[in-house]
Amino acid sequence: MSEIHQCTVKAHGDPDLTFDVRSGERVLHEMIRGGRHLIDVGCRGGGCGVCRVRVISGEYTTRRMSAKHVTEAEQAEGLALACRLIPSSDVVVELAQQTSIPLT
Ligand code: FES
Repeated sequence: MSEIHQCTVKAHGDPDLTFDVRSGERVLHEMIRGGRHLIDVGCRGGGCGVCRVRVISGEYTTRRMSAKHVTEAEQAEGLALACRLIPSSDVVVELAQQTSIPLT
């Protein structure tokens, strides 16, 4: 049986968005599947960096992420790409500023 986790996205100035994430699925893809939008959507494959979020609480794993978009130090601080982020419990994330990573 597939497990469902809840993902809550906190954005400054916008209401929180909560949606279901099926077990083993990625946050960004499940947000799109539900017809919702709060996290920016780009390549959907870890290549552009626009979907950066910071995980505030919850357990998760990530698929491989390029250090160009999320450094090891940032990963240690909870930063991740939503299109690579797979919750293993309910999670709360916030939108991350594109501060150190220039978009090309
Ligand atoms: S949408 Fe491009 S890195 Fe996530």
